[in-house]
Amino acid sequence: MKDQKLISKAREILNNNYQEKGFTIPCQGLYPFQWNWDSGFIAIGFAHFDMEKAKKEIKTLIDSQWSNGFIPHIIFHNESDTYFPGSEFHQSSLSPLVVNKVPTTGMTQPHVLGFTLERMYHIAENKEDITAFIKTTIDAVYEYSLYFYKHRDPLDEGLVYIYHNWESGTDNSPIWDDIWNTMKSPEYKFERRDTTHVDASQRPSNEEYNHYLHIIEIAKAHNYNDEKIAELSPFLIQDPLFNTVLIASNQSLIRLYELIGGNEDKIATLKQLTEKSIQSFNDKLYDEELKAYCHYDLRNKKLLRYTSSSSFAPLFAEIPDQKRAEELVGTLMDKFGNEDQYMCASFDPTHERYKPKQYWRGPVWINLNWLLYHGLNKYGYNTIAQRVKDDSIEILEKNGFYEYFDARKEEHKNNTAGYGGNNFSWSAALLIDLLSE
Ligand code: GLC
Repeated sequence: MKDQKLISKAREILNNNYQEKGFTIPCQGLYPFQWNWDSGFIAIGFAHFDMEKAKKEIKTLIDSQWSNGFIPHIIFHNESDTYFPGSEFHQSSLSPLVVNKVPTTGMTQPHVLGFTLERMYHIAENKEDITAFIKTTIDAVYEYSLYFYKHRDPLDEGLVYIYHNWESGTDNSPIWDDIWNTMKSPEYKFERRDTTHVDASQRPSNEEYNHYLHIIEIAKAHNYNDEKIAELSPFLIQDPLFNTVLIASNQSLIRLYELIGGNEDKIATLKQLTEKSIQSFNDKLYDEELKAYCHYDLRNKKLLRYTSSSSFAPLFAEIPDQKRAEELVGTLMDKFGNEDQYMCASFDPTHERYKPKQYWRGPVWINLNWLLYHGLNKYGYNTIAQRVKDDSIEILEKNGFYEYFDARKEEHKNNTAGYGGNNFSWSAALLIDLLSE
């Protein structure tokens, strides 16, 4: 009964956030356009009760693909003055690779599309219909995967870089502070819009925004050319979350191609890339002392030695072997698993940079919990996985469908520990999916 109520509220949120043009906004006011990885999670939610909308979500996102396979992070389907920086700042039309005229950003986000398609396949009751849909979309998703290896892997390691913190999905993670310390960015004149919707103390600072804008200016000065960006961007990171999600999507694409038949060459390419990626991932991104996966700073050639919720994402793509997984889960429980905390804080709660109310500097996010839940189950850590699932459901039930949540249980006493946007789409979508298990 309780679950049914939550599910119907979640469905209502998704339906309300769904737009006529065939995509779903993350939430009203704060995020009024289509976001790349949000769309994947949203489609998984819709697949449980309205497959047509789920398919449309994916189709609309794929329609923004550039001729080199790239899919942008925001698609500006409509005008809105509630968001900065909007389409006129990003100027995607500078790139000669743009195909569709709808303006976008010139950066991307974690590639969730492969495993989104696979999840939709499993949820679908009508397998014939979903198979037909997959046949019409899978090659675009495959091209998106290949884009990364062709254009974002300068050392040919099977590890791809992101050139902007907004590509990571974890916008203001304390890990990026190390990069900001290497940069001298101009002070731009701009009018923030996010802080009119949400308390400024919970958002990135203006100084951080100067860095965010500066990197985009560098990319724009070179018409979003990847080779130039790799040469010049002060931010060039091999992110364990980003690479995990890409690898997981490749693994899903392999299984889906096998299912629909043919395409042996693509399967072989994906297998070869994935194997190489996993090898390099384990060689390069694991810190033996922290016993956790970390971010590698390709510009300054060093590992950024911090533990965050991204450190445990690799379980989702079965990147560690069982022994390393054991060690990693030990770190997870030591640092993030205290009984007075909900799992899983986005940044190391024992670290001085931890900020429990500030966006990606500490709070719990439902999409990272969803990845962690599935990752833990893959290695047989079912009890911990169940805790991550129960915690996710409990915080949503207590506080509502917010964007992120304080991890400290005492803060939930009055059911006001949800922050950022309310009626947030992926929190709703993934709750539906978690409760379907
Ligand atoms: C914030 C999040 C990002 C998300 C976007 C839209 O920028 O950090 O991950 O995609 O909001 O919800």
